[in-house]
Amino acid sequence: MTSTLLRGRTLSFVSWPETIDDHSAWRYEEDGGLLIRDGRIIAAGAYTQVEKQAGEAAKRIDHRPHLLLPGFIDAHVHFPQMQVIASYGAELLDWLNTFTFPEETKFSNAQHGRRIARLFLDEMVRHGTTTVAAYCSVHKASAEAFFAESHDRNMLNIAGKVMMDRNAPDGVLDTPQSGYDDSKALIAQWHGKGRQLYAITPRFAITSSPQQMEMAGALCREHPGLHMQTHLSENHAEIAFTRELYPWSRDYTDVYEHYGLLGKKSLFGHCIHLSEREADALSDSGSVAVFCPTSNLFLGSGLFDYQRFRRRDKPIRIAAATDVGGGTNYSMLRTMDEGYKVIAQNGEKLNPFQSFWQMTRGNAEALSVAEKIGTLDEGTDADIVVLDARATPAMRLRMETAETLAQELFLLQTLGDDRAVREVYVAGRAAKTDMAI
Ligand code: GUN
Ligand code: ZN
Repeated sequence: MTSTLLRGRTLSFVSWPETIDDHSAWRYEEDGGLLIRDGRIIAAGAYTQVEKQAGEAAKRIDHRPHLLLPGFIDAHVHFPQMQVIASYGAELLDWLNTFTFPEETKFSNAQHGRRIARLFLDEMVRHGTTTVAAYCSVHKASAEAFFAESHDRNMLNIAGKVMMDRNAPDGVLDTPQSGYDDSKALIAQWHGKGRQLYAITPRFAITSSPQQMEMAGALCREHPGLHMQTHLSENHAEIAFTRELYPWSRDYTDVYEHYGLLGKKSLFGHCIHLSEREADALSDSGSVAVFCPTSNLFLGSGLFDYQRFRRRDKPIRIAAATDVGGGTNYSMLRTMDEGYKVIAQNGEKLNPFQSFWQMTRGNAEALSVAEKIGTLDEGTDADIVVLDARATPAMRLRMETAETLAQELFLLQTLGDDRAVREVYVAGRAAKTDMAI
C-alpha cells in the first residue's frame, strides 16, 4: 500500500489555548512531516523523524513554507441554500418565506439536488472545509444526493433531511409520519456507511407541529448515538411566534427540552437571546450552541455572547459555523474574522490560537468526532488543509512585518479566504478542485 509523506509547517491543537503564550495547547513543527496511509495519519512530528518511517516508495509532497492544519469543520450549514446566499433586505422569518422556502422547493427534483450537492462539496473543500454538519431540504432525495456525493468523496459529513410540517409552503412540507419514515429510511441507508453520519433534523419549533416534535424525540430515543440539529433563539420575532405556538413552554429552549431533544449530540444553531435558565439547560444537558457570526450579522439577528457562554459557572459547549445561505461566506477564515468582531462588540477578544482551535479541534469536540478528525494526531483521519499566508499581494505585504505564528494566523483569519487555501486532503487524497458549474 503506497503512502504519502507531506512536509510543511504543521499546527494542531491539544487543548483550548487560554492565552496567546499557552504553548502547551498546540503542537507546532517548523519543519513538520505527516505520513499518511489508508486515509489516516500514521506518523506526525518533526520531518526528519517522520521521514525515517516512510518507505522509499512513499509519495513525497513538499508544502513548505505553507502551514498544514487539520481541515476546517463547519458545524451548521444549509446545502440547498447556495442560490439563497446574498438575498437582500429581510430579517429571519421574512427571509425564510421570501427567499429560502421557495428555493428549497426546487429540491423535490432529485437531479437539482444532485447538482447542488456536488457544487456545494466542491465549494466547501475549495475553502478548506473537510467536514460539515449540513441541513438538507425536506425532500428525502436531497439527503440521498448529499450523502451519495459525500460518500463518493470519502468525506466525513453529518447531515439530515429537515423535518417540517407547518408554517411553510406545501412544496417544503412533510407530515409527522412521512418525516419520521423518511428519516428512519435515511438512517438505515446512510448512517455509518463509510464516513457518513446522520443527524435528526427538525428545522425549528415554528415549522414543526407538536406531533412532529414528538416524532423527532422518538427518533432520538430510538437512535441514541445520532446527532440532532435545529435552530434556537435566533431572532425576537421567531421567539415570540414560538411562544404563541407552544404557550405552555417556559421559554424557547423548554420546547426542545420537553420533547427530549437536548443532549451531548444536540446542536443548536444561533442561541443569541438565551436567558440564564436556558443557558443552564443547555449546559446541564451538554448541548452545543453554534455560533454563526456572518449569518447573525447579515440577518440582523444579534450578537452571540461567546465569552460569556465559555466563562459562566455552567459553561456551554460551543461550535462555529458559516450558516450559508443566511451566512455570507463559505470560508471558516471569513467566519472567524466576523466572529472576532462580534466578540469585540461584547468587549472581549478571541486570540488567533483560540480561533484556529475553534475551526479545527474545538468544532470536532463540539460535534463529538474528535477521535477521528480535528487534529493531526497519529491514528486520525488525514483531513488536512494547506494554508498560504502570502496568497494575495496585500497578504504578502502584511506578512513582511509579521514576526510570530500568532500574527500569521491572525493575518490569515483577517485577510484570508479561499485564495489562501493551497491544497486540501480528504482522507489522504488531494481534493481541491474548482467548482465546475
Ligand atoms: N431557522 C429556521 N430555518 C433557518 C434557516 O434556514 N436559516 C437560518 N439562519 N435560520 C433558520
Ligand atoms: Zn441554519
